[in-house]
Amino acid sequence: MESVIVAIDGPSGTGKSSTSKAVAAKLGLSYLDTGAQYRAITWWMIGNGVDVHDADAVADAAGKPVIVSGTDPSRPTITVDGVDASGPIRTEAVTSKVSAVSAVPEVRALITELQRTIAREAEHGIVVEGRDIGTTVLPDADLKVFLTASPEARAARRSGELKGADVRATQEALVKRDAADSSRKTSPLAKAGDAVEVDTTELTLDQVIECVVTLVEEKR
Ligand code: C5P
Repeated sequence: MESVIVAIDGPSGTGKSSTSKAVAAKLGLSYLDTGAQYRAITWWMIGNGVDVHDADAVADAAGKPVIVSGTDPSRPTITVDGVDASGPIRTEAVTSKVSAVSAVPEVRALITELQRTIAREAEHGIVVEGRDIGTTVLPDADLKVFLTASPEARAARRSGELKGADVRATQEALVKRDAADSSRKTSPLAKAGDAVEVDTTELTLDQVIECVVTLVEEKR
């Protein structure tokens, strides 16, 4: 199989992670969850008393934690200074602060470099999911997909994942986070000009996976 680089971007709750992992597993590719890296650095900042709303303090601390991502799609892992951070990075405390940390250019520069190194070293190719993969991190990706869905569908999926969280509150938090991610100055959430947009509102997860697998196969 030829090596292939796939960028999957889009706002929260569009099914990026589930789709990206399944596509990578089906095609024998590595997988990278870039949101987990921004969450990991945010978790470290909170734990080390850095005020996440002080961009200078965040920039000064950005190079301190060592973040390592495991790229097996059947068992993605993330460690911070050798400690498994997979659970803590999904807490509300991190989710509510990650957009502030990820907007800091020094943070993005470091994490982008890490992402490019991981993509370069993936022997059989990789599926990388995030917000700015097609536009900034891997502008030469073989395939770029931009997933969308209505805010209602995204909130319903996310509150299902969060085991019964209030749908309205989840939708408000999602819309707020997307607005912050889309309006930041440095590599905002955006669809690359050459990305294929897939609206997942009316599709099942299996249909989205099938659609992306077909798009990858057309590129090979
Ligand atoms: O994908 P996930 O919801 O885990 O991403 C968490 C946050 O990480 C996003 O809301 C965004 O602030 C940041 N992020 C980013 N660039 C990426 C991936 C995620 O800024 N490529």
